[in-house]
Amino acid sequence: MHNRIMITGAGSGLGREMALRWAREGWRLALSDISDGGLQETLSAVREAGGEGFIQRCDVRDYSQLTALAQACEQKFGGIDIVVNNAGVASGGFFGELSLEDWDWQIAINLMGVVKGCKAFLPLLEQSKGKIINIASMAALMQGPAMSNYNVAKAGVVALSESLLVELRQQEIDVHVVCPSFFQTNLLDSFRGPTPAMKAQVGRLLESSPITASDIAGYIFDQVGKCEFMILPHEQGRMAWQIKQQTPQLIYDEMATMADKMRAKVKAR
Ligand SMILES: NC(=O)c1ccc[n+]([C@@H]2O[C@H](COP(=O)([O-])OP(=O)(O)OC[C@H]3O[C@@H](n4cnc5c(N)ncnc54)[C@H](O)[C@@H]3O)[C@@H](O)[C@H]2O)c1
Repeated sequence: MHNRIMITGAGSGLGREMALRWAREGWRLALSDISDGGLQETLSAVREAGGEGFIQRCDVRDYSQLTALAQACEQKFGGIDIVVNNAGVASGGFFGELSLEDWDWQIAINLMGVVKGCKAFLPLLEQSKGKIINIASMAALMQGPAMSNYNVAKAGVVALSESLLVELRQQEIDVHVVCPSFFQTNLLDSFRGPTPAMKAQVGRLLESSPITASDIAGYIFDQVGKCEFMILPHEQGRMAWQIKQQTPQLIYDEMATMADKMRAKVKAR
């Protein structure tokens, strides 16, 4: 029976909502995060929804913590069927202002955290012929202004997912990559960037979402069921991606205009 799922960053936002969505279908959950309090809250909510599972602290920057989590899944569940690499942090700032430390921090969590998650769980996924769901972002496809380190990390997640889709087909491991636009979660809490004004702008973008983390979790559940590789939960995102593929210059021009406006706003503060 295929009903064992592991989620990183499950203590908040999308990770928590995905836990609840799969719990409602009777899946057993391995929930990990760096926030013990967040994990406890998610587990309580999962239990209220009739689900069951265990929590384990895991920083996705540390490969040994991910292999320990894989071992725990083997011991407690006898394996794993879906691995969700969801843990992530927010960042912003124009390229000239971002420090190399900002880059290292962003890449270590949002990109290498996913690489390490895939690698640590690959042996278990080979056994179960399971699935990988990597959470990227529309930032990976659109390269919005003043978030180059985030854009690059997330584009890396898409490239990794495409590479795995191709390489793992023979092992019958399915791969999915999710590219949401902005939606309201606690993502701003982790924001790192050179200017507070930029943080405020990201906050406004998160608030502007027409759909919730719960809607997105439901959409992902349905699209994984339909074996869709690239999952774009926002309708506007799907439209923008179509335009980008057909006439990329249109999107570059729009992004450049947006960059000018952002610079003007930041200067005016
Ligand atoms: N919210 C958005 O607008 C948005 C848009 C596109 C993509 N995403 C992506 O969705 C994913 C989930 O983010 P969210 O919006 O639910 O944010 P969130 O902050 O509510 O949840 C992220 C969780 O990841 C955990 N985390 C942070 N660093 C970690 C680490 N090193 N190891 C393990 N866990 C860690 C946090 O403790 C938190 O519980 C992220 O990958 C994010 O980049 C979010």
